[in-house]
Amino acid sequence: MPQTLTVLGLESSCDDTAAAVLRHVPGQPCQILSSVVSGQVALHAAFGGVVPEIAARAHVERLDICVEEALATAGLRLSELDAIAVTAGPGLIGGVLAGVMCAKGLAAGSGLPLVGVNHLAGHALTPRLTDDLAFPYLMLLVSGGHCQFLEVLGPDAFLRLGGTIDDAPGEAFDKVAKLLGLPQPGGPAVEACARAGDPTAFALPRPLLDRAGCDLSFSGLKTALLRARDGVIATHGGLPQGARADLCAGFQAAVVDVLAEKSRRALALHKARTPQHLSFAVAGGVAANGSIRAALQAVAAEVGAAFVAPPLMLCTDNAAMIAWAGMERLRLGLVDDLTLAARPRWPLDRTSAPLLGYGKKGAKA
Ligand code: KG4
Ligand code: ZN
Repeated sequence: MPQTLTVLGLESSCDDTAAAVLRHVPGQPCQILSSVVSGQVALHAAFGGVVPEIAARAHVERLDICVEEALATAGLRLSELDAIAVTAGPGLIGGVLAGVMCAKGLAAGSGLPLVGVNHLAGHALTPRLTDDLAFPYLMLLVSGGHCQFLEVLGPDAFLRLGGTIDDAPGEAFDKVAKLLGLPQPGGPAVEACARAGDPTAFALPRPLLDRAGCDLSFSGLKTALLRARDGVIATHGGLPQGARADLCAGFQAAVVDVLAEKSRRALALHKARTPQHLSFAVAGGVAANGSIRAALQAVAAEVGAAFVAPPLMLCTDNAAMIAWAGMERLRLGLVDDLTLAARPRWPLDRTSAPLLGYGKKGAKA
């Protein structure tokens, strides 16, 4: 008989320190009793990217504050929980270590079971927390640090169909914003600026569309945008607002086209294996982009797949997804002990070839 579970989750693999408490009564929607996220954007703003050392120190300072707040908001004491789940990788190792050490301390002090969670599994399982989505389903994880198509087969069973061979799309949005003098995080700024632009004013490439399969690349697109910007500056002696908007619109349209076509291919692969109950889910900060979301929804509709996009606060980094993934592991009896290791790299799919690259926000897998 499945039991009611109440789990504390911790997340510290990049630049958000987070703690959350979830309660799940089998057969009912899972309740998020609290979800605390302490972001670090201001700490890294001057450096143009996440500085691992600064991130790790901030996690050490904030983790126990977030845990206390999450427990207080949930109105629970540690002794009333069933387990402690923590991101054990992949990510910036200093931050992951800070989270794992905090969770070990809590587990050792309380006697509660400890569950190590793969951060990517947290994202990939979120549609089950929000929409009770049944296995299997196709997931596009698209954020500042990650970009991959995953067939989600079970709480601990994933098949990677493809992924980026260089930058993640969010990373590309952030770099493009920097090149065009727009603020960070770049995604929302580029999307807003693109509204006034003409997406056809500059001819930008659609990388890897000529190559079969679902792998993606965004680094060449970023370089093409840099060249186009330099051409404008050489002609006008500066970057007029109209050209900036056209560059943003052209870049966003290229990302939309690439993500849509690669999603089409990933869905075709998924459909060949799973003709019934076709579902396509998306997670990660880039899923906040209206044009990208609409394009992915349209691709899902083409093949009659259900489209699931969790609310943004659960798409971006958070600890509720870690608590949920921990619960799913706990129900399978997958519990760790105090030897749990923090891992900078931890591919979800143990069978596919590893992804290349190590982005500014940590390992790609
Ligand atoms: O998932 P997330 O919060 O953090 C990680 O990367 O782990 O994603 C943040 C990324 C940033 O690169 C940000 O620029 C991008 O998501 N992003 C967007 C939008 N909102 C956030 N990219 C495109 N359009 C947006 N509206
Ligand atoms: Zn993430």
